[in-house]
Amino acid sequence: MSMVITSENSTVERREILNDAQKQRVEELVSKMTLTEKIGQLNQISPSIVGGFEVPFEELVEMVTDGRVSHEEFERIMSSAKQDYHEDMIEAGQVGAVMVSGAALFNRLQKIAVEKSRLGIPLITGFDVIHGFRTAFPIPLAESCSFDEEVFERTGRIEAKEARACGIQWAFSPMLDIARDARWGRISEGAGQDPLLGAVFARARVRGMQGERDAENHIDGEHLAACLKHFAAYGAAESGQDYNTVSMARSLLFNIYLPAFRAGAEAGALTVMAAFNDLNGVPCTVNSFLLRDVLKKQYGFKGFVVSDANAIKECISHGIAEDLKDAAKQAVNAGMDMDMGSGAFSGSLEELVRSGEVKEETLDEAVRRILTVKTALGLFEHPYASEEEAAGYGELPAEHRAAALDSAERSIVLLKNEGDILPLGKDKKIALVGDLADDGENMLGAWSALGRGSESVTILEGMQARSSRVRYADCGGPEKCFDEQKFSACAEGADVIVVCAGELNKHSGEASSRADITLPGEQRKMIEAALGTGKPVVLVLCNGRPLALGWEAGRVPAILETWQLGSEAGNAVAAVLFGEYAPSGRLSVTIPSVTGQCPRYYNHPSTGRPGSRSKFTSRYLDAPVEALYPFGFGLSYTSFAYSDFEMSEEGDTLTASVTVGNTGKTAGEETVQLYMRDCVASIVRPVKELKAFAKVRLEPGESRKVTLRLRKADMGFYDDVMDYHLEDGTFEFYVGGDSENCLKVTREVFFRQ
Ligand code: NOJ
Repeated sequence: MSMVITSENSTVERREILNDAQKQRVEELVSKMTLTEKIGQLNQISPSIVGGFEVPFEELVEMVTDGRVSHEEFERIMSSAKQDYHEDMIEAGQVGAVMVSGAALFNRLQKIAVEKSRLGIPLITGFDVIHGFRTAFPIPLAESCSFDEEVFERTGRIEAKEARACGIQWAFSPMLDIARDARWGRISEGAGQDPLLGAVFARARVRGMQGERDAENHIDGEHLAACLKHFAAYGAAESGQDYNTVSMARSLLFNIYLPAFRAGAEAGALTVMAAFNDLNGVPCTVNSFLLRDVLKKQYGFKGFVVSDANAIKECISHGIAEDLKDAAKQAVNAGMDMDMGSGAFSGSLEELVRSGEVKEETLDEAVRRILTVKTALGLFEHPYASEEEAAGYGELPAEHRAAALDSAERSIVLLKNEGDILPLGKDKKIALVGDLADDGENMLGAWSALGRGSESVTILEGMQARSSRVRYADCGGPEKCFDEQKFSACAEGADVIVVCAGELNKHSGEASSRADITLPGEQRKMIEAALGTGKPVVLVLCNGRPLALGWEAGRVPAILETWQLGSEAGNAVAAVLFGEYAPSGRLSVTIPSVTGQCPRYYNHPSTGRPGSRSKFTSRYLDAPVEALYPFGFGLSYTSFAYSDFEMSEEGDTLTASVTVGNTGKTAGEETVQLYMRDCVASIVRPVKELKAFAKVRLEPGESRKVTLRLRKADMGFYDDVMDYHLEDGTFEFYVGGDSENCLKVTREVFFRQ
């Protein structure tokens, strides 16, 4: 076999973040700084809450963002608790970054840093802005089902604008963890399971959040610094259990888990957050292979790396550091630039530098990186947030709501529509049942920042705004028993029953893994009751992860996966139910039949015993091995036909061309997907890999030739010593509307010209 081992995908030359004058200013500043001031820049703190509240602020913020504590409760705690913002430390130059939201509060702290600290270096404040700030957009898992980079970019731009107006210059997103295991609660925060889609998402979000530089080479006042997280392989937590260990071959790491990070770094992301997990025995927080060799050298990343919350200290629990000082030493020497919240750097770096265990140049490198980001943000020139502008976000701007609606509509995936039950006619008498249908809070999803449940349009509101024939019963939910009486009263006389079921915000997100991913509580009873009436039943799912839907798919004729869609959830769901918007979302993850199939993903390596019918093949005795709904799948209200699939080659590019026709009676949007299989290679390769996709909108009866391009340089793979291979031979190419139903062309490809 002839192969080319290439540097094509290795070292990346990065564009400089700063111009020469800006760089010089950073150098001048570094030369004036005392050791204490340098260490201060590496220290990110949160306010400590004193006076009766036991949970540290970071944890409280997490509890709010993942739904364990409501916003109302948070506000009550914050107004009654006394907070210590460590203003004395800020004045002494011992703090470089904070984690607060609110323009007035931030300005108060910034004033101390700028006016009272010796060198007047501004603070940077970071916050979790994952899918919207005041306006809640769909959770990223949902939005990734749009396969639409314009949408990813637009929502990134709006969340940045809202957050920056409220004094936040740094968002802890995008979350780029590839997630193959639906048990892992944080699958909700990322773009699903595919490395190509993940890379498209990464680039678009960074573009949207950071924008273009202004005339002074600054990120302007409507954008902020992005943070690629969690570096790396956090999504592969063993057993889908959060924070769990990860063991992984380097080929898998480089082929599947890292491409999105590389794409984000190439797009110019200014910061990266290291993951909590250990990777092959070394916590990412102290992993110099990841932080120095891959990120800073190979990817040429010039911004700064922050630890995850408290993660430096957690190296003690990992059993790789004796104490906080040892953990600090390992972290900074491995290339960690900023400590989020553990106090490890501020408590020990001075001693470590004096004893020579940490070189002052190492510290200087970290300081330089942090000051580089502050300079790029224009914080030295414009350190304060505009309180007036922040006040404007008391109400959600109409334009932001419109973007939330557009994104939400595009995120919805129609999984099943037997007998064309959907769309619903407005003349139909509809019984809408299930607590989630009237629950704005749980449309927000985990990490909802300052999104308010009271401002999200509920499904009930969305439907009632479009039809006067909707009757509702809150007869059961994820944590509430099924109330048969309420159900029956509502279902009586209805033409169709819409059952709304799923998960609460707190069932996904951080620290929210589930060992059983079927519908929680008694919601199946509600579905059974609906089916028992003999009327047509539509199941509307609101959830933060793929659920095991084998039971439901075998019984319910129509299933709409709506995830958690944010501020405009109800309008988007109702628009799809009533046919104002034809569903166009495609799954960015695989939906399993039963939990035991997890992790399930379409691009798995070829086994020696493929097939699923006979005994001695790679399969289960008690469950199907196939996905219930495969990656890329999604129905519309029309149907599409594919024909005339051809592959051609010119220079360093292959082109797929295929005719796609709308064979139904309504207009619709198709996501045309190109997959590839490397038939014989030097290491086992996936059965299929997504290589390109395009969206095409077709009127009934219309057909169009769609072309998709694939650079030959992108057809290779990394081996376990991180060499990138391009190997001549036979490739299968597939094109279709999902990862399973495709047309196929086989072709020889040679890489050496
Ligand atoms: C822990 C989470 O893992 C991370 O994603 C988040 O950004 C930080 N906490 C800060 O809230």
